[in-house]
Formats: sequence, C-alpha cells, structure tokens
Amino acid sequence: MTHRFTDRTALVTGAGSGIGRAVALAFAAEGAQVVVAGRRREPLDETVALIEQAGGKALAVTADVTRSADIQALVDATVDRFGSLDVAVNNAGVLEAGGRPVADVPEDAWRRMLDINVTGVLLALQAEVRRMRTQPGGGAIVNIASRIGVHGRIPGTTAYAATKAAVSILTRGAALDHIADGVRINAVSPGASATPMSLRPGETEADRAERMKTDVPLGRVSTVKEIAAAVLYLASDDAASVVGADLVVDGGSTA
Ligand SMILES: NC(=O)c1ccc[n+]([C@@H]2O[C@H](COP(=O)([O-])OP(=O)(O)OC[C@H]3O[C@@H](n4cnc5c(N)ncnc54)[C@H](OP(=O)(O)O)[C@@H]3O)[C@@H](O)[C@H]2O)c1
Repeated sequence: MTHRFTDRTALVTGAGSGIGRAVALAFAAEGAQVVVAGRRREPLDETVALIEQAGGKALAVTADVTRSADIQALVDATVDRFGSLDVAVNNAGVLEAGGRPVADVPEDAWRRMLDINVTGVLLALQAEVRRMRTQPGGGAIVNIASRIGVHGRIPGTTAYAATKAAVSILTRGAALDHIADGVRINAVSPGASATPMSLRPGETEADRAERMKTDVPLGRVSTVKEIAAAVLYLASDDAASVVGADLVVDGGSTA
C-alpha cells in the first residue's frame, strides 16, 4: 500500500454514505487525517468509527453545504484540529425528481438540487481556497460532478444533469482562477455507481445489474472504491500537473 497522504488533512463532504464514505476511507488508508462532513451526525460517526478501527484519524463535523457559515465553520474546525487543509473533496449532492420529464419537475426539487449541488460546491470552493492559498503547500480540491452532466440522454434526470454540468464548468473556471494561488482544482465525473442514487424509481439492485449489461459498455456499475481511486489520484502529487480536468469514470458510457 502506498501512503500518498501521510501528514496531510483531507476534508470530504457527504462522507456519511456512498462515494463520500469510500473516499474518506481511502484517504485514511493512505495516511491522511480525514474530516468527514454532512448534515446527519450518525452516519458521520459510523465513518469515523470505520477509519479509527483501521488505525486512522478522523473527525466528524455536521455541516449543511448550502450554508456559508456552516462551511466556514467546517474549514475552521479542520484547521483547528489538524493544523491544515491540504485536500478537499466536494462530494455532497442529491438527485431529486428522478424519472420525471422536465415539465414535471417540481420547483422545490429543482431549487434544492441547485442549492446543494451547485451553490454548495461554490461555497465550499470559496472557503477551501481562502484557506489553502494561505498555506505554503497550497492544496488540491476535487469536485464530484457526473457523466450525466456531459449529455442530456438519460430520461428523467435532466434537472439533476444540469446541476452536474454546472459543477463541471465551475471546476474548469475555478481551476484557472486559482492555480496561481497554489490550489489545484479538478473533478471526477462518475457514471452509474454502486449506491442507491443510481437506482431508477422502483428498481432493485438486481434490476440495475441487468440494465447495466446493456447500458454500460463495461457491463456493470463502478464500485465506490473505483471512484475513490480516481479522486485520490487527482488529489495526489501524481497529478501535480493536472489542472481543471474532469475525469470520467463510467465504464465507457460517454466514450
Ligand atoms: N451514485 C451514482 O451513481 C453517482 C453518479 C454520478 C455522480 N454521483 C455524485 O456522487 C456524489 C455522492 O453520491 P452517492 O451516490 O454517494 O450518494 P449518497 O450516498 O446519497 O451521498 C450523498 C451524501 O451527501 C450528503 N448531503 C446531501 N445534502 C447535503 C447538504 N446539504 N450538506 C451536506 N451534506 C449533504 C448526504 O448526507 P446527509 O443527508 O446526512 O447530509 C450523503 O451522505 C453526489 O454528488 C452525486 O451526485 C453519484
């Protein structure tokens, strides 16, 4: 096992479940001290327990990414506890109104997705960059977008896809704005991954596995570990010259 993040501090939003938890565990396994954030305390405590059982160090902080005061408090708590913020992964996100064509997407669902998926990433980027640009080593940020933001071809997901396309363009522009500050910003765009979010309304995991055989060239969903591996690469010194990239991990769906 390589240890690319020894003595570094990584912050992961939405780390109480799914991809965010896998990312937090992967950073801890490679030596990072990890701060895990989300709205609900219990799943965050479970992530911390998993990290500590494996011999790592972690801190849970409840925060709603749509509130700038929460995000600033999260960054402050990270630095207070571990002394720096070297890596941040803006992963928190929601998919609502799945299965509905655009005309039937409720306004409140649209506004929630914009608020969490787009404003949440913007506010986090702002607070993270403000801290990282004061540190000698700068920092690395990875936003979680989606391959669904690359095209509008998946029925019933257009509103969500629009928010994820916004994350991709926010990533590219912010990367250029802040590379001179010593902050590298990139995105990972997962395709269908092994969490409940990729289940269609009423679909079981077995149904999804059957659908993947034809929907995805690879023939299956990506595992959360596979998504985490891409995030760790972009956050690591191996990717020192990778700036503003959007790394698609989707089993060939957008190839
Ligand atoms: N699974 C896929 O197939 C797939 C594909 C492409 C992209 N993605 C993206 O990958 C990311 C993770 O998805 P996932 O599948 O792992 O879903 P998930 O298990 O539902 O994880 C989402 C996490 O975000 C947190 N969260 C939601 N709203 C928040 C808020 N306002 N403030 C702070 N935390 C918030 C949730 O915790 P709380 O509810 O406790 O806050 C939860 O832990 C999302 O951005 C998603 O859009 C997923």
